[in-house]
Amino acid sequence: MSNHEFEAQVKQNIEGLGRDPLLKKKAWEWAVEASEKYNYSYNFRWGGLPIIQFPQDLMAMQEIFWSAKPDLVIETGIARGGSLSFWSSLMCLLDTYEGLDPRKSIRKVVGVDIDIRPHNRKALDEHPLRFKIELIEGSSIDPEIIQQARSHADGVDRVLVSLDSSHTHEHVLAELNAYADLVSVGSYCIVFDTAIEDLPAGSFPDRPWDVGNNPKTAVHEWLTTHPEFQIDKNIDNKLLISVAPDGYLKRIG
Ligand SMILES: C[S@@+](CC[C@H](N)C(=O)[O-])C[C@H]1O[C@@H](n2cnc3c(N)ncnc32)[C@H](O)[C@@H]1O
Repeated sequence: MSNHEFEAQVKQNIEGLGRDPLLKKKAWEWAVEASEKYNYSYNFRWGGLPIIQFPQDLMAMQEIFWSAKPDLVIETGIARGGSLSFWSSLMCLLDTYEGLDPRKSIRKVVGVDIDIRPHNRKALDEHPLRFKIELIEGSSIDPEIIQQARSHADGVDRVLVSLDSSHTHEHVLAELNAYADLVSVGSYCIVFDTAIEDLPAGSFPDRPWDVGNNPKTAVHEWLTTHPEFQIDKNIDNKLLISVAPDGYLKRIG
């Protein structure tokens, strides 16, 4: 089979997945069961640090990094550092593929969190790719923090944004307004945990978010005034199992 034929087949596979409501339903039921009973997304690590994601989304992210080749990633929501570890590994790979020395290239990852706990900071400080990572402590929607994070984008061509902090509608909307304009055309703003909208109501009794008040509702509202971004349904269809359905926002203009 030629490369062309292979790509055509993959395209057909993904379109087929997108038209299979029964398989989508089964995948979603599996994801809900896994998340609710076993905190599935908490059980993985990257570069030794816990990463609170579904592995399927990480596969999508590496495909995005490969196509968008970002020089800067801004991520809100650090937790135990696993996602910063993952993004910085991908940045080093991109450097290496391009014949650059990862220690000298401009590529970096900026992480913002309202509460970088001492043990998490220590783990990040000891991480072998710490030289690729900038840490900012404070609320991602505080104007001073926004300015600090945005300053890293000065003069940078290719920017990717990942939003994974507080999951309320109001907070995510404010983050989209604060950071999404930095995303370069062809790159992405990824809004994690949009899946909250599709979970049974009351799934997070100790959190302020729920059905009707979460990242997906924020994405849908924000997109009505931002036609320069489009939900990449191809990714949703390919993954089926994801914490970010409708959350892969591609900048198209
Ligand atoms: C879901 S976790 C992040 C998971 C991480 N991205 C990963 O993949 O491993 C959410 C994080 O957001 C942080 N957070 C909550 N509210 C925030 C805010 N207003 N500004 C910045 N970070 C916030 C929390 O402290 C927590 O560490």
